[in-house]
Amino acid sequence: MPYETIESVAVCGAGTMGSGIAQVAAQCGLRVVLYDVQPAMLQKGQAAIEKSLDQLVQKQKLTAEQAADCRQRLQYSSRAADCVADVVIEAIVERLDIKQQVLTELAGYNAPHCILASNTSSLSISTLQQSLPQPERVAGLHFFNPATLMKLVEVVQGRQTDPTVTTALAALARRMGKVPVQCQDAPGFIVNHIARPYYLEGMRLVETGVASMETVDELLEATGFKMGPFKLMDLIGLDVNYSVSQLVWEAYGRPDRLQPSALQAERVAAGQLGRKTGAGFYRYND
Ligand SMILES: NC(=O)c1ccc[n+]([C@@H]2O[C@H](COP(=O)([O-])OP(=O)(O)OC[C@H]3O[C@@H](n4cnc5c(N)ncnc54)[C@H](O)[C@@H]3O)[C@@H](O)[C@H]2O)c1
Repeated sequence: MPYETIESVAVCGAGTMGSGIAQVAAQCGLRVVLYDVQPAMLQKGQAAIEKSLDQLVQKQKLTAEQAADCRQRLQYSSRAADCVADVVIEAIVERLDIKQQVLTELAGYNAPHCILASNTSSLSISTLQQSLPQPERVAGLHFFNPATLMKLVEVVQGRQTDPTVTTALAALARRMGKVPVQCQDAPGFIVNHIARPYYLEGMRLVETGVASMETVDELLEATGFKMGPFKLMDLIGLDVNYSVSQLVWEAYGRPDRLQPSALQAERVAAGQLGRKTGAGFYRYND
């Protein structure tokens, strides 16, 4: 397929990441369908996009006409069969088996050349693509949170990915106003590998009684980080961040320095997943 003609994107999963990715894609002129299996999550994603577009108009970053055009390009659906596009961007739960199952289903609705991109934070693209039809058109397209603001996108080449696919995804990311960085498939890719100690050492300081989480956050923010580790984990989602930690720890042979924290595991088990559930390390009312 001539990948320069990408005009439409289907975003699968309307949670924290999917809704932001769908909004950015629509803002840059692409036709977008945002799909979620849970109608309530789809509604929540739609409400988040509507609110964000209104705010952009209020701040004069978009004209009312641009926001209206953007809304027209966005379609919302809770039917997988509506996910037909030039590129599918999957942003569902961080589980390999579920991603494989959903992408296999979506491959069936799409043309064989449709690119299947995963927003996974840490799962192996090479493993993911193995069970999919035309594995050469499968790649990682890893946006950062919040997807509407963060410029970086990792474009991940799996073992069987056709290089024209990653080139096309990098061009798509640039069109979406992002800065793509291409990398090979590896546990945690680049950023989630480098960032592990930021979270894990922060939690270790609290577990060993050296400082409170508020102190750790304040200190790191005072040194120039936009968010301390605890606020950042709450934004990311404790479940998502914990599963990345587990995967990277396992992939490197369970070294002590990368061991996931009980502090985080307890909260995940209790359903305290951060901002998205109203409580994580901190409590939220909005
Ligand atoms: N949260 C982050 O900061 C972040 C950053 C980068 C990448 N990611 C990755 O993005 C993906 C999504 O993360 P998130 O934080 O947006 O998760 P989330 O929990 O906020 O949203 C996931 C959404 O997927 C939907 N979903 C689950 N199973 C589905 C299925 N079978 N079919 C269709 N929809 C389904 C859920 O209903 C939910 O709305 C994960 O792979 C995660 O690792 C997350």
